[in-house]
Amino acid sequence: MPDQPDWKAQFPVRQSDEHDISRRQFAKVACCSALAVGTGWAMRDKILPLPPATEPKLVARVEEVSVGGSRLFRYPTEDHPAILVRLGENEFAAYSQACTHLMCPVHYQHEKKQFYCPCHEGFFSAQDGRVLAGPPPRALPRYPVEVRDGQIWVVAAVKTAASQQTQTPV
Ligand code: FES
Repeated sequence: MPDQPDWKAQFPVRQSDEHDISRRQFAKVACCSALAVGTGWAMRDKILPLPPATEPKLVARVEEVSVGGSRLFRYPTEDHPAILVRLGENEFAAYSQACTHLMCPVHYQHEKKQFYCPCHEGFFSAQDGRVLAGPPPRALPRYPVEVRDGQIWVVAAVKTAASQQTQTPV
């Protein structure tokens, strides 16, 4: 076109079209947003780690949890669901109930002594919390358990500087 300025030839976008978002632009923004949210979610434990447990918590009396049974509670704060399981006559274990994949609550399956996450078919060992199958990237956080005078307590774990092992205070 003869009367058109040079810049119009180089940027041939009509003013009426400049607010239209192309499908490609929309897909780019959607992908970047999903990637940012996904990365943030995957890093949430690094960004917002579980608060350190400092106080012991009474979960139940021994006779209230049958062998193979479980009891839900909150630990280390009221915002953190946790689960106590009775693996045997004198064997108890407590874990965070939030799956390490996308935080769905896990369910105890005593016949296999494992936790099952129904969201994406994740499985964890009830013996030590390790991942048995599925997408969870890490073991379930485990809380030390003590039985005192017929009561089941979850106690704060203490990390020693020398060993970096998790120990239970006496
Ligand atoms: S949230 Fe548990 S496997 Fe995905």
